Amino acid sequence: MVTTTADKLAELREKLDKAREPGSPRAIERRQAAGRPSARARIESLLDPGSFQEIGALAKSPGNADNPFGDGVVTGHGTIEGRPVAVFSHDQTVFGGSIGEAFGRKVVATMEHAAKVGCPMIGINDSGGARVQDAVTSLAWYAEMGPRHAQLVGVVPQISIMLGNCAGGAVYSPINTDVVVATAESHMFVTGPEVIRSVTGEDITLEELGGAYQQLKNGNVHHVAKDEAEAFAWVREYLSYMPSNAFEQPPVINPGLEPEVTDSDLGLDAIIPDSDNSGYDMHDIIVRIFDDGAFHEMAGQTANNVITGFARIDGSPVGVVANQPMFLSGALDAEAADKATRFVRLCNVYSIPLVFLVDTPGFLPGAEQERIGVIRRGGRFLFSFVEATVPKVTVVIRKAYGGGYAVMGCKQLGADLNFAWPTARIAVMGAEGAVTLLRKREIEAAGEKGEELKAQLIKMYNEFIATPYVAAERGYIDGVIEPSSTRLELRKAFRLLRDKRVIEPQRKHKLMPV
Ligand code: HXC
Repeated sequence: MVTTTADKLAELREKLDKAREPGSPRAIERRQAAGRPSARARIESLLDPGSFQEIGALAKSPGNADNPFGDGVVTGHGTIEGRPVAVFSHDQTVFGGSIGEAFGRKVVATMEHAAKVGCPMIGINDSGGARVQDAVTSLAWYAEMGPRHAQLVGVVPQISIMLGNCAGGAVYSPINTDVVVATAESHMFVTGPEVIRSVTGEDITLEELGGAYQQLKNGNVHHVAKDEAEAFAWVREYLSYMPSNAFEQPPVINPGLEPEVTDSDLGLDAIIPDSDNSGYDMHDIIVRIFDDGAFHEMAGQTANNVITGFARIDGSPVGVVANQPMFLSGALDAEAADKATRFVRLCNVYSIPLVFLVDTPGFLPGAEQERIGVIRRGGRFLFSFVEATVPKVTVVIRKAYGGGYAVMGCKQLGADLNFAWPTARIAVMGAEGAVTLLRKREIEAAGEKGEELKAQLIKMYNEFIATPYVAAERGYIDGVIEPSSTRLELRKAFRLLRDKRVIEPQRKHKLMPV
């Protein structure tokens, strides 16, 4: 019998001790053999040391006194770089991390806490989804999360970290968050291979079905980390660019660096190759024109023809969308359009200004692109840029041809300031295509001198038509600038645009080509 205060304290200690490892011994052994940390250890690795405050350690699902403490999820809050975050972490040793009633209540309460205090919500997922034996109770608690995601989306950053094997609700819920980060050894699917085999007879491996890289290709994962430590480090860095909520500004880090043109800036004056057909790595420009060379790339392992990520100007975060001439010559395609759309909308929702760096021959044409919906998906990209009300600055580095000119933040689409380098080529298409289209008959008529004539016409086109100066004359761009002045021009531009406000007419929501 528990009668004395000492007994009561001992009872509490015993319960808390059980609650630290509530899973079945077999499952704990399996986890340890696989070298996986516990749900709590994962939270401790993610958060600032000693900052985690657990909520609901002693919660149990009703119906059976022997039900495990915690019900398969650890919830609470703590800090990252001193800023508050809410967090949950699935415990796969309790019914495979599947969701029961207490589990659902705890996660929903954590989401509501994030909404109340306006802090990021981070989910560490490692779960088989709805708890089969709990039937509709489990489904109901998953469904309860849907409105909470809707309450949080665009208000506080929501981040999902995928570890282990995640199924059902444990993938539907994460996909409704801002960003999904997976470890290379994790898997995501609606249900696992064994269930599939028994239901449809399809024979497929875990990896083929839902390996992290497969899901990256499928567009369900935005970053694959080599291991858990790297995933947590990635999330911590990502949050350094984010405000705690959409009503706050993101942290300003080291403003006022290098107020004069530096040697690194001067290097930009020679970075563009003389030949139009030569590539260069757009990252080499990115690291020179933003603060400290820091760049947090988003979806950097997919659709490499476009680069998206966060940098800082004068200490404040900006979102960068840049063409990458090293891949597909920087041509845009359906996948790149999706990647850029998602990123532009992410920046806009958290009031992070946008910088577009342009070097693209336009959209990749062809039957395959049409089949997978390049019109709809490219249209969405265009729409996302127009819809974004944050300050928007575009720098045309080299090619801005055709639809590429239009979607990559041209002035007519609503960019606030547009600059071009003297190396810019702004035109409907590249010289070769244009000359062939317009002067084909003359070139054919010139017989063996045809090639020479064509070369001359290409030279003229590049000298007089595909330049930044036609656009500058018409006011389609605001200035042709020396590459080495770009970093300082961007700083001036964003100081100028700091107080930009756009008043939107009232409507329920916009419709985009989904
Ligand atoms: C109850 C579950 C479970 C689940 C796993 N377990 N999933 N228990 N409900 N959904 C248990 C297993 O019985 C096992 O218990 C332990 O967790 C580990 O599972 P294993 O299969 O041995 O692990 P592994 O080989 O790693 O495979 C993991 C898995 C697989 C791929 C996730 O377990 C699987 O496919 N589970 C079913 C997934 C599923 O269909 N979920 C429901 C989706 S519907 P023991 O006692 O043996 O250790 C859904 C609705 C969402 O989620 C609704 C949204 C509104």
